[in-house]
Amino acid sequence: DSATVLVTGGAGYIGSHAVLALRDRGRAVVVLDDLSTGRRSALPEGTVLVEGDVGDKALLADTFARHGIGTVMHFAGSIVVPDSVERPLAYYRNNTVKSQALIEACVEAGIGRFIFSSTAAVYGMPERLPIDERTPTKPINPYGSSKLMTEWMLRDSAAAHPLRYVALRYFNVAGADPQGRSGQVSKVATHLIKIAAQTVTGQRAELQIFGDDYDTPDGTCVRDYIHVSDLADAHVAALRHLEAGGASEVLNCGYGRGYSVREVLAMVERVTGKPLPMRIGPRRAGDPPALVAGVERIGRTLDWTPRHADLETIVASALAWEERLLKDHSVRQPSSPSR
Ligand code: UFG
Repeated sequence: DSATVLVTGGAGYIGSHAVLALRDRGRAVVVLDDLSTGRRSALPEGTVLVEGDVGDKALLADTFARHGIGTVMHFAGSIVVPDSVERPLAYYRNNTVKSQALIEACVEAGIGRFIFSSTAAVYGMPERLPIDERTPTKPINPYGSSKLMTEWMLRDSAAAHPLRYVALRYFNVAGADPQGRSGQVSKVATHLIKIAAQTVTGQRAELQIFGDDYDTPDGTCVRDYIHVSDLADAHVAALRHLEAGGASEVLNCGYGRGYSVREVLAMVERVTGKPLPMRIGPRRAGDPPALVAGVERIGRTLDWTPRHADLETIVASALAWEERLLKDHSVRQPSSPSR
């Protein structure tokens, strides 16, 4: 069937791109968001928004019934790794406790399909590349632990109840909608490409490279950057998988190739034609030297074809969005980190 999809955190960075991907395919969508970091303006015209808390079971039961929800895509959560180290209980509440309420509400309402935003942070500091899904999960921060605990709740709930799920372990999400309809808004960004975009547009004086003495080809850390619109499409593919009766899955979501910090920054300079003020700083605590997704499993499980898988497209779309944010003063920039 093609029942309505509830997108929690749909007004946030990744969730809003999922809303666009679903609506572009004619799917009915309802968004649940408390607008703590998301923005109403990230939603396409005509999107139904339920403003509220993802841990509010009465609201959930009411929303499920009122809108005929058949699948939940769960994006709402807190995502800033160093913040999770300082405020672990806030992360366990937002990411784990509220997910428990949401999963329980689904089980009680008989909602049988669940798609979850997980993270490569569940792997911690993996020793071998690429990282496939059988790699032991050893998160090194509360953010990763809070997400892994939700994966476990889904695994155990799916064994006990008529619930099937896909957990997507995101690698480094970046870029913006190619049509300029959404992008990353938060000013207090921690992500490399967002910071580079802020720097090259003059909003920051300089960018710091966190360490250039790693055991990698150019000494800087290597990451598997994935375009946010391709990630959104992977959610649609996961939805089709579950709707077709597919089994529960935990899948890495990346492209299976890595770029170094220096390579990313060189691309920013190439795309803009401007030098990027930068200097080498100390290593950042908890950064693994290299994270590259093993993508064999997602490739054979989902009908997903990435469409924006080159670094230039990712960087150019992030820069175009940043320029747009600067020009468009109607876009309010929240002061808390984006989800
Ligand atoms: N970096 C810099 N300077 C900056 C910002 C980042 O050199 O100003 C470097 C980082 O040290 C790292 C790389 O750029 O080597 C990428 O850093 P990001 O902060 O963009 O992303 P992370 O790889 O740290 O984090 C991502 C996700 C997290 C997830 C983590 C898994 O954003 O949600 O991968 O380890 F938890």
